[in-house]
Amino acid sequence: MRIVEASPDWIREAGRLLRFGKLVVLPTETVYGLAADATRPDAVAKVYSAKGRPAENPMIVHVAELEDARNLASEWPDAAEALARRFWPGPLTLVVRSSGRIPAIVAGGLQTVALRIPEHPVAREAIREAGVPLAMPSANRFMELSPTRVGHLHPEVLAAVDLVLDAGSCQVGVESTVVDVSDAPPRILRPGGVNRAEIEAALKEPLGSKPGQGRLSPGMYSRHYAPRAKVVLTERVPSGEAGLTFGEAGPAQIRMPRDPSAYAARLYDSLHRLDERNPNRILIEAPPDDPAWETVWDRIRKAAGETQPDGPT
Ligand code: TXA
Ligand code: MG
Repeated sequence: MRIVEASPDWIREAGRLLRFGKLVVLPTETVYGLAADATRPDAVAKVYSAKGRPAENPMIVHVAELEDARNLASEWPDAAEALARRFWPGPLTLVVRSSGRIPAIVAGGLQTVALRIPEHPVAREAIREAGVPLAMPSANRFMELSPTRVGHLHPEVLAAVDLVLDAGSCQVGVESTVVDVSDAPPRILRPGGVNRAEIEAALKEPLGSKPGQGRLSPGMYSRHYAPRAKVVLTERVPSGEAGLTFGEAGPAQIRMPRDPSAYAARLYDSLHRLDERNPNRILIEAPPDDPAWETVWDRIRKAAGETQPDGPT
């Protein structure tokens, strides 16, 4: 395994390795991803084992162009077109009915496929160089925090890959928003980098509230995105305890931004940093109870292992 700074030559090498069925860690604007050729079941199987991830947990397929996304779908509804045109390339994933070109192992046996065009130039260029769609989950071990810097990568993930392209910190810092458009009305399966209000504005219709019967996103667990230390949500972080706060930060604490996007961008890195010091627990000061904070609330609840009252979203 080699860790190199992303350059045109190394991006070309990443593409070559991916074509040979090897695994490569790539930067995206959301989090670092663990990439494999999505058309090769042998390569995709290696991703599941590197992550320690159960096989029913489907992966997002990343492509470089809108045309390539449409070709992987058996139906391309108006909602898909509207959202793709508004948010791609970017932190949005669309679940559509699959054309069957992507092998079943990628979608955990579902009839649908999740598609995304990442905005990060290194990721997009690597997809072009590979010349194939890339299955690319976040490059963390199953249930752990996603990496937003190369320094966050787990030794077992590093051991399973041939190459890591380093491009510094991920700007969005949390995963893409997953929207199911395979059936009407469109629904958010996982909040993420694009917020609900922006999606509804682009759709010009309200999103469905809860996933219907059989439409839950597999891989939505109540504990997920978690550091090693126990995480507890609280009104205030007492001085002397490790945690994330909005106020003055003590020595074991990190002061977080009051803007939800800026907060999200720093959340995983802050949890990784606190976790490195092996605290007994990490306290997180509750952010505002406001729709703009939906993604942050989702991730901190999951880090705390709290089930959401309205089920997984
Ligand atoms: O930002 C991101 O989305 C990152 C970067 C690397 O692109 N990727 C990522 O992938 O977060 P992953 O595998 O860690 O999360 C994929 C999510 C899971 O919640 C999974 O359940 C959902 O997408 N998903 C994938 N395929 C699906 C499908 N066919 N139907 C419903 N949900 C699906
Ligand atoms: Mg993940």
